Amino acid sequence: MCGIVGYVGFQEALPIIISGLEKLEYRGYDSAGVAVYGNGKVSVTRAIGKLGELKKLLNERSAEAGGSLGIGHTRWATHGKPSENNAHPHTAGRVSLIHNGIVENYVELREELEKEGSQFKSETDTEIAAHLVNKYLNKGLDPFDALKAACADIRGSYAFLAIDSQNPDRILVAKNSTPIIIGIGKNEMFVASDIPAVLPYTREVVILEDGDMADVRCDGVRIENNGKPVQRKVQTITWDPITAQKGGYKHYMLKEIHEQAQAVTDTFRGRVEQEEGAISLPELAFDDKELAGIQRIVFVACGTAWHACLVAKFYIESFTQIPCEVDYASEFRYRQAVFDKNTLVIAVSQSGETADTLAAIELAGTRSPTMAVCNVLGSSIARKVGNVLFTHAGPEISVASTKAFTTQLVAVYLLAIYLAQRRGTLAPEKVGELTHSLLHLPAAIQQAVEVNSAVEKVAQRFRGAKDFLYLGRGICYPIALEGALKLKEISYVHAEGYPAGEMKHGPIALIDENMPVVVLLQRSKELFEKTISNLREVEARGGKIIAVTDFEGSKELHALTQNVIEVPFVSDFLSPLIMTIPLQLLAYHIAVFNGTDVDLPRNLAKSVTVE
Ligand code: G6P
Repeated sequence: MCGIVGYVGFQEALPIIISGLEKLEYRGYDSAGVAVYGNGKVSVTRAIGKLGELKKLLNERSAEAGGSLGIGHTRWATHGKPSENNAHPHTAGRVSLIHNGIVENYVELREELEKEGSQFKSETDTEIAAHLVNKYLNKGLDPFDALKAACADIRGSYAFLAIDSQNPDRILVAKNSTPIIIGIGKNEMFVASDIPAVLPYTREVVILEDGDMADVRCDGVRIENNGKPVQRKVQTITWDPITAQKGGYKHYMLKEIHEQAQAVTDTFRGRVEQEEGAISLPELAFDDKELAGIQRIVFVACGTAWHACLVAKFYIESFTQIPCEVDYASEFRYRQAVFDKNTLVIAVSQSGETADTLAAIELAGTRSPTMAVCNVLGSSIARKVGNVLFTHAGPEISVASTKAFTTQLVAVYLLAIYLAQRRGTLAPEKVGELTHSLLHLPAAIQQAVEVNSAVEKVAQRFRGAKDFLYLGRGICYPIALEGALKLKEISYVHAEGYPAGEMKHGPIALIDENMPVVVLLQRSKELFEKTISNLREVEARGGKIIAVTDFEGSKELHALTQNVIEVPFVSDFLSPLIMTIPLQLLAYHIAVFNGTDVDLPRNLAKSVTVE
């Protein structure tokens, strides 16, 4: 996820671009850059770090001042660490280009371009797009057609903005799977990843659709899709600036819950070989000998990431038969943990900065091969380990983790299948089946998010409860833990997660009419029936049941409770990803009813960089 802004008109472009980028910093903030046309040339300035660093640099120089055409970018790295060279805009010949998305076939395109003489200055997937557009310009194509030709070569997701130093009155735009809007002004046009960036200047907005290409000039916009001219409706935005920043949602947490289908897609995009039905993770540089030598895997993490590891254990053991353990990073550090050269230690961390996880993986690295599953390129943990598998959740602003968690689950699922492929522990048909089920996940997640209003009603019914018990079995037990954690974190209501089968060994003593029991029921016949038996024990003690299930229309379940939330079924292994969504929403709505500060809960921090 990155933020992009463009301006063409009669005003000075730079302040408009910078103010737009400030509104989009929630989309990325590891580096930023601008390209502005003025005094007969395009000047590019880029800086690593937050936007403030770019602003400081721009204050020291004046090359960009005065020009009234420009583009700007705030980056959240996916390919290539955060650095000045990897920051956008990327330039090639006449072209300056910015990008939000992922070019899946960039390795092969880069090889071809290098053979043709292109010289690359960055490690990014984006730079190939600048070279491609420049190549087609050099063949005599009009800039709009050159971008079109480049997009025909590219596979992946993108919002591209390009300017051509020889046509300094146009911004060329292409969109596929990542958002882009055009703000319509009077003799000026604004282009951005999101509405807040243009709201100070105009409320008239065109939202581009997938496959749209736009030729944006100060006095008009030409849009084509599939080579044919199309008209897109001009919408008038009535949101106030703060609501706009949150995409129209009341809180970042709710916005991020809704972003999960996209974040999950971004995480498996380019890593699933659909035709072969296999997983490709070229970023992992394990050689065959190293892989064959792994006799045990230990995961270390904290908080929500630790719950993702508990699900990972199911994936690893089921697909690879490699024994797997999960440790709290803070515990791993302070006991005589057993690990050696045949143990692969994997840190899972959204931020890549959690002090305990960092210290645990440093310790592990003294004797064992290490890797990380991480959301932030260039973070301390990512730099410490031998291999990193990045999630592509984009920045998560709400302290309570939602999309970072579901993308971690996708990443560890990909990893487990990949290890099984390389070690030959699953038949190719099974690998194909597991791989293909991923493709159904985004739509199922989207449907699960749509239970929002049903969950809100349940939340209203139980808003006054002081304690909650969360139960799950098998692969959904970690989701019960995560559901309970979400409720504690943001609503300050006590909640405990338990394996459903363990209820009779303690928690059952707590159950009465004041104790809601949130239960996860997977469709799997054996576990479903066993969990129903547990629920009868709850019912017998007057406990109130809230059930989340991917088994549609169970008479037994509906007879036990009127609070049944049904979500789509994709596969047994992907159930946790879908089941977790109603639990995020339940915590969210109870917190809203309780009037807590949902995005910034008391005493908590997004990234805990102290012990
Ligand atoms: C804090 C956050 C949690 C997060 C945990 C681990 O407690 O509030 O949401 O799960 O740290 O963070 P990490 O960045 O390592 O995943």
